[in-house]
Amino acid sequence: MKALVIYETLTGNTRTASYEIAGRLSAAGVATEVSPITAVDLQALSDADLVIVGSWTDGIFFFGQRPGRASRLAKNLPRIDGKKAVVFCTYALDCGPTLEKLERIVRMAGGDVLGGYSIRRDDLAGGSKELADRLLGVLEST
Ligand SMILES: Cc1cc2nc3c(=O)[nH]c(=O)nc-3n(C[C@H](O)[C@H](O)[C@H](O)COP(=O)(O)O)c2cc1C
Repeated sequence: MKALVIYETLTGNTRTASYEIAGRLSAAGVATEVSPITAVDLQALSDADLVIVGSWTDGIFFFGQRPGRASRLAKNLPRIDGKKAVVFCTYALDCGPTLEKLERIVRMAGGDVLGGYSIRRDDLAGGSKELADRLLGVLEST
């Protein structure tokens, strides 16, 4: 199985988490590439059975949260019809409905969304490990 992590970042946290997740999945035998939403590697996308889409949380901290630069994300995300997908967001205090909104964007692109996970920015390594472990558990049981 192969995977691709596609991320949107403003200050680098979501990119850091993306590489952590990719490293952990690759170490477990799921060869995983990483691309920014502005330059998706179409060959890696075509090869991927699983697409992981990550974004940061934009809002007024406890209100109106959404994926950062959501319209650019929706516009640049290529079609991923028939591929399994997972979403994640990084956040500071409260990500609110960011994951649900990100899930909607990924479904609109044709992804079969298995679930989502939020990663607090003060524990990017721990959150990324937890996401990768849970994902590997789900993949083993499918
Ligand atoms: C303009 C702006 C708005 C933000 N709004 C929220 C918010 O509503 N809730 C929250 O928990 N974090 C919020 N954050 C924090 C970011 O989501 C968090 O730092 C994230 O990890 C940034 O990811 P990035 O480094 O990949 O851009 C905001 C950050 C910025 C710059």
